[in-house]
Amino acid sequence: MSRPIKVMFFCLGNICRSPLAEALFIFHARERGLEDRFHIESSGTSSYHVGESPDPGSQRVAKERLGVDISHQRSQQLSRDHVEAFDALVAMDRSNQRTAMKWSDDIMLLRDFEPLEHERGSDVPDPWGGGGRQFEAVYDIVYRCTERLLDHLEDTYDLH
Ligand code: 4NP
Repeated sequence: MSRPIKVMFFCLGNICRSPLAEALFIFHARERGLEDRFHIESSGTSSYHVGESPDPGSQRVAKERLGVDISHQRSQQLSRDHVEAFDALVAMDRSNQRTAMKWSDDIMLLRDFEPLEHERGSDVPDPWGGGGRQFEAVYDIVYRCTERLLDHLEDTYDLH
């Protein structure tokens, strides 16, 4: 089998949004029997939370809604080396997409994969410091967009 397709999800802190994107993409890939075809990581454009586990709000929605424990994840900062080594770089919002564009023009935005036309191209809202409802909203957005990103990568890399 060919080498795994490397996908990097990133936000600002790598404690709220991108840890959920990592877990949800792996979930969808596993559902389709494609987990072994991917190498998935997440990161943040900042170093604010390097080494920390995901925010309690993200840990809770992952556990309650997906049944997945993400407490082992540790925040890392996105680097130029990541950008060069990964096949797909997927930003949670346009601000962090712009930050990574200093290294490459080829940076995807997660909500470009929105099935909801009017929300396509928008940001995954930052839930940091917010309540449970904000994390629930992030979960819903990331759930549906990672599913459609997987459709796209299946087509691109002919994984059918
Ligand atoms: P994330 O959320 O980018 O989804 O991990 C944030 C986490 C931390 C901060 C901002 C957003 N912060 O300013 O420390």
